Amino acid sequence: MAVRNILGIGAGYVGGPTMAVMAARCPDLRIEVADIDEERVRAWQSGRPPIYEPGLDEVLRRGLGRNLSFTSDLPAAIRRAEMIFVSVNTPTKVFGQGMGMAADLQHWEATARTIRAHAPGPRIVVEKSTVPVRTAEAMDQILNEEGTRRFEVLSNPEFLAEGTAIRDLEEPDRVLIGSAETPAGQAAAAELVDIYARWVPRERILTMNVWSSELSKLAANAFLAQRVSSINAIAELCEISGARIGEVARAVGMDRRIGPRFLEAGVGFGGSCFRKDVLNLVYLCRHSGLTEAADYWHSVVRFNDHHQARFAAGIVSQMFNTLVGKRIALFGFAFKADTGDTRDSPAIRIARALVEERARLVITDPQALENARRELADLADRIEFTDDPCEAARGAHAIVVVTGWRQFAELDYGRILATMERPAFLFDGRNLLDAERMFSLGFNVVPIGSPPRLHFE
Ligand SMILES: NC(=O)c1ccc[n+]([C@@H]2O[C@H](COP(=O)([O-])OP(=O)(O)OC[C@H]3O[C@@H](n4cnc5c(N)ncnc54)[C@H](O)[C@@H]3O)[C@@H](O)[C@H]2O)c1
Repeated sequence: MAVRNILGIGAGYVGGPTMAVMAARCPDLRIEVADIDEERVRAWQSGRPPIYEPGLDEVLRRGLGRNLSFTSDLPAAIRRAEMIFVSVNTPTKVFGQGMGMAADLQHWEATARTIRAHAPGPRIVVEKSTVPVRTAEAMDQILNEEGTRRFEVLSNPEFLAEGTAIRDLEEPDRVLIGSAETPAGQAAAAELVDIYARWVPRERILTMNVWSSELSKLAANAFLAQRVSSINAIAELCEISGARIGEVARAVGMDRRIGPRFLEAGVGFGGSCFRKDVLNLVYLCRHSGLTEAADYWHSVVRFNDHHQARFAAGIVSQMFNTLVGKRIALFGFAFKADTGDTRDSPAIRIARALVEERARLVITDPQALENARRELADLADRIEFTDDPCEAARGAHAIVVVTGWRQFAELDYGRILATMERPAFLFDGRNLLDAERMFSLGFNVVPIGSPPRLHFE
């Protein structure tokens, strides 16, 4: 019998948009999303989502009141559902064995136990969270503990990128569906294929063994993070050799074997996934005795840490080795443009390093100020926040571009410079602004991956 009632557990950056797009694309299905966080549930249900994501409001509004609803009553929602997607958080463990590396699966396991307690009959459970390879096996054992096989566990990792989540969900590069290689596992996979096939071309839906599916997600994020570290490593060499990273990246990216995307040098990767997933991979390798493979992937994260520390240190050294009492405007706090998410944002380390040097920090961001305040709550008396970048720069000795928001590229920097202290510095951590133009306006410009343009020797 075809599935009609779907439940998504976890209404975060993945669960909310994923289920909203599914509801929009499958008007004949009834889709519910459940979360233990009642405030989040209320926000989603009111049509004002708790996260910023371009295009999300519209998709959400279309579904609400039609075939999409949000609830914090998990038992009732589980009783109604035939297929359950689980998109709960799987952060890096901060305690015990594997601390700082392994994935913390406590929310996943708690969810599996809640499902087992309340599901009245056979169910398909879809693992959407990013998890270590072989997690589905553990979940299968927890769900089917009593000997009777009631649950089929599928792996269906999510590849959306924040900032483009709606487009990524509507037109995914691929959808992975991993299942047990048994008739029941394959039947469950076929049910999920039928759902995606309503809007995703069939050739982009890949069915595979469950372990391949789980590992493909970690591998994809590790490859992406590795590209960021690779281009940033080349950027460092550019800064001291006279080469320009934009020119090098273009030349490298035109090789069809490499491709042009994800070759922008910057302040290093952030966000809730890359560090977590690469470290998870490192842990898996190390745990399996694959020391060299673990070291290889670990270097991707270690380089990123170094690169961010180097960026902050460069600000101190360019500004005559002291920041004490100097006002510095941080342009952007989100981990990238078009999101309000600040989890593991490079801005956190940079802000902390500058405050440590006793700079007076002013942070501006069009979407992330609330999260920024929360991230830096312990420094509340030493940081100002404003949603007006011109106000942030007034009286400042330096602007530091940390997030590549388009709005920052459209400001009148001539007028901004007139309100700043001299010499005025511009540290462009995203190469967002035209360095030559900024230099000719009067800024001392320090881009990523090309030599600084300074008005003094
Ligand atoms: N954020 C991304 O860009 C992204 C992309 C692809 C995959 N992922 C993966 O998807 C998963 C979710 O990520 P996210 O960014 O949406 O996390 P999130 O923290 O934004 O959302 C997780 C939600 O799960 C809820 N939750 C936790 N335990 C629960 C329980 N027992 N019952 C019901 N709800 C519970 C939390 O309250 C929270 O609202 C992670 O595994 C992540 O690695 C994230």
